[in-house]
Amino acid sequence: MTQGADRTPGRRTVLGAAVLGTAALGVGGVTAAPAAAAERHGGHGSYRDLPTPTIIGHRGASGYRPEHTLGSYQLALDMGAHVIEQDLVPTKDGHLVCRHENDITGTTDVAAHPEFASRKTTKSVDGVSLTGWFTEDFTLAELKTLRAKERIPANRQENTLYDGRWTVPSFEEVLRWAEKEGRKRGRPVWLHVETKHPSYFRALGLGLEERLAKLLRRHGRHRADSAVFLQSFEPSSIQRLADLVDPPGVVLLSGAGSRPWDFIEAGDPRTVADLVKPEGLKWIASYAKGIGPTLDLIIPKDASGKLGTPTTLVRDAHAQGLILHPYTMRNENTFLPADFRRGGDPNAYGDAFGAFKVYFETGIDGIFTDNADTGVLAAADFRG
Ligand code: G3P
Ligand code: CA
Repeated sequence: MTQGADRTPGRRTVLGAAVLGTAALGVGGVTAAPAAAAERHGGHGSYRDLPTPTIIGHRGASGYRPEHTLGSYQLALDMGAHVIEQDLVPTKDGHLVCRHENDITGTTDVAAHPEFASRKTTKSVDGVSLTGWFTEDFTLAELKTLRAKERIPANRQENTLYDGRWTVPSFEEVLRWAEKEGRKRGRPVWLHVETKHPSYFRALGLGLEERLAKLLRRHGRHRADSAVFLQSFEPSSIQRLADLVDPPGVVLLSGAGSRPWDFIEAGDPRTVADLVKPEGLKWIASYAKGIGPTLDLIIPKDASGKLGTPTTLVRDAHAQGLILHPYTMRNENTFLPADFRRGGDPNAYGDAFGAFKVYFETGIDGIFTDNADTGVLAAADFRG
């Protein structure tokens, strides 16, 4: 399917310094995983062996449960998602927890806890001013007194039934859950783990990558054939991780006109539009195995919100040996391209199967979706 599919990029020092040599176990402090560790999660396997299109449960099964909860992850796995996604942020005492952002105002009941009222504050995160409560101001024990809730109750009222049912999971809990489920199923449970705001947290002394690498090593998921992808919108985070551990890295790409926050801080003028050119993709392929572009970079929409003509990104990325895991497919009309909306209710489901099919036809390797069950059926239809 791709050129250079078996290429193993050399391990690099952080931030584009010289290549040090071919990646190998034992380099950069990485040691071979004990056999017992491999068995804990049901063995190893290459990401190239995953079914394609690969269905990635976005924040679990966030179309049906409050996102980033063990309930959401469990449902996505039970629905047949091939990979389950976690977004990671740190606590004050350095634990990694699963939240889409460090501002927990919208996805927990923190506002209803008078004992934490004084922690409400205003911060600038990646250049955006935010007022609320932030994970880095809470210890893990404090965070564990909160309960998760639905992020978008106006769109997903049914999910509010589950508000308060689960806590904010630590990543270590998720690793243990994946091991348990892997043993039960006799195969590894694949994870897709994103570092959120890595430069921001590094400046606070809460670097994400070392903490993540340590957990991955502890749980035998640090190898090239471990059942985990590592993703970030900041390329330097993927480079840093590539120096520490060997699982496949995926560089996330937002809108064409945007710049990764680490580029902005470093004065790197390149935009996402530069990164999706062959030269930019070649640079990404020197330290990563894939890209995670917004779906609009695969098929842009016209002024009316309908899908237009696919770009050459799939072909160009594959030419560099990169897989593509674009984001995010959701079943509700309000989130679908205009040509796949049905009826006037923005929160009713549109023709999600039709939209999945059109995206799959571009040749993408996988897709993030809030609706794992729909994605699994659509992928099976596509494979025929
Ligand atoms: O990580 C893939 C996709 O989840 C990126 O978007 O904002 O949902 O993390 P976001
Ligand atoms: Ca994500």
